[in-house]
Amino acid sequence: MPNHEARRLLEAATGRHWTQLIIGVELTTGEVEAFRALVERRRSGEPLQHIEGVVPFGPIDVAVDHRVLIPRPETEQLFELACDAVENPQVIVDLCTGSGNLALSLKHAFRTASVYATDLSPDAIDVARHNATENGLDVTFLEGDLFEPLPGHLKGRVDLIVSNPPYIAEHEVPDLPVDVRDHEPRMALVAGPSGDEVLRRIAAAAPDWLKPGGTIICEISEFHSEEVAGHFADLDGTIQMDLSGKERFVIGAAQR
Ligand SMILES: C[S@@+](CC[C@H](N)C(=O)[O-])C[C@H]1O[C@@H](n2cnc3c(N)ncnc32)[C@H](O)[C@@H]1O
Repeated sequence: MPNHEARRLLEAATGRHWTQLIIGVELTTGEVEAFRALVERRRSGEPLQHIEGVVPFGPIDVAVDHRVLIPRPETEQLFELACDAVENPQVIVDLCTGSGNLALSLKHAFRTASVYATDLSPDAIDVARHNATENGLDVTFLEGDLFEPLPGHLKGRVDLIVSNPPYIAEHEVPDLPVDVRDHEPRMALVAGPSGDEVLRRIAAAAPDWLKPGGTIICEISEFHSEEVAGHFADLDGTIQMDLSGKERFVIGAAQR
């Protein structure tokens, strides 16, 4: 096990920060046993973030467990792209919200905006609502398919749509790392046989919801960027790289 993981498990088992531990604190028997139990869970493939129970995301901390995808650094980049792309947005929509990471960090960044977020999974909506309470942020979380649960009066009024939807193809599942494949919800990962199914539906419906000139930014698979750029052609979609140089985002805008 890498040193940094052992250190984080020790912090989780003892509730003490590393700086307190390295000065030579003697652990109780209970703390040693708790540490051993966490090491076993990690060795069996459980993600470190599930064991710790919380991950930092942009300006907030979000609770995560087996019911939601663990927010990724690429998605933090999506949050930053969104903050740079819009000025003073009044209506923001996050599709496929999972833990609520994007919706809540955008509400944190744009306090006067009304933020709506949807997810097909009732479990994910529960986690997102918990995270809203923990962070003291007011976001409307709605259970349902993509745009379907949104109030109709938002049509043509949305300044910013963001989404990190499922974008893995069924045939790519066997190649996923074990801790992803066995511990994160399949509904959060797999879009269908080709992987671009959900993004295609988002691109088709977005023009009805965006206000003229409104922005849409979605996370995508580097393996499907060409197809996705095609789906977003009517929104003038352009592909942007993530920090590791992979084609990771599509950014588009509704016609003025
Ligand atoms: C890749 S996860 C992203 C979660 C979160 N936004 C993030 O960035 O970590 C995709 C999420 O989409 C949800 N989902 C899958 N199909 C959906 C659909 N048709 N409509 C709404 N949500 C959907 C899943 O339940 C899952 O929470």
